[in-house]
Amino acid sequence: MGKQVISTPVIRRLPRYYRFLGELEQEGLERISSRELALRMGFSASQIRQDFNCFGGFGQQGYGYQVVELRKIIGDILGVHENTGVILIGAGNLGKTIASHVDFQKRGCKLIAVFDDNPLIQGTSTAGLTIMPMESLESFCKQHCPQVAVLCIPKNAAQQLADRLINLGISGFWNFSHFDLKINNPDVIVENVHLGDSLMTLAYCMHRKEEN
Ligand code: NAI
Repeated sequence: MGKQVISTPVIRRLPRYYRFLGELEQEGLERISSRELALRMGFSASQIRQDFNCFGGFGQQGYGYQVVELRKIIGDILGVHENTGVILIGAGNLGKTIASHVDFQKRGCKLIAVFDDNPLIQGTSTAGLTIMPMESLESFCKQHCPQVAVLCIPKNAAQQLADRLINLGISGFWNFSHFDLKINNPDVIVENVHLGDSLMTLAYCMHRKEEN
């Protein structure tokens, strides 16, 4: 399949489709209609059909979607069958939690190194990896060519570090640092994660519900 441009809202829904289809696969379901899938996922059937049409629409009228095949196609689009090298910077509370609890492999990534500038924790291990000093970053990247960096450092260190990492070949940031990175290179992709934003969305919805 060639590379199509898919809109961001559709891309944001793909992991959810992938997850649900995985559950259906585990239940042993071979195929599912857009209506049934919609009921399970809380989307409308037309939304699902529209989304799948963005990359070719793989269902058949009156037959539904082949669960395993559809999951495989969505997985390929998401790149879950790849093995992208990932490094994590900042092995504090958040960094250690992400290193140990996020299943990178399942998402087409492999966490290959963890770095921190605190000498007190360098040499200790997290998620089976020895925490390395920042001085090793250049030689490590030269040797192992990671593509993605997870930033779990304070916001005041984020931009300088991101620039350093881009020079070392990093082209994707999973950025938890609460700092909106300024990146001029169009080939570098940043995914900012703010758990607090998600909580505020919940708070807003709760508040609005009370008003009605
Ligand atoms: P922490 O203080 O436990 O860990 C930060 C780690 O980064 C420390 O081990 C420190 O030595 C290291 N570090 C600091 N500057 C560095 C540098 N220039 N290079 C390499 N290592 C460096 O803090 P915690 O709780 O793990 O949080 C980390 C960051 O993530 C904070 O900025 C926090 O605000 C943010 N955060 C973001 C969340 C989100 O949803 N995006 C959720 C929770 C925290």
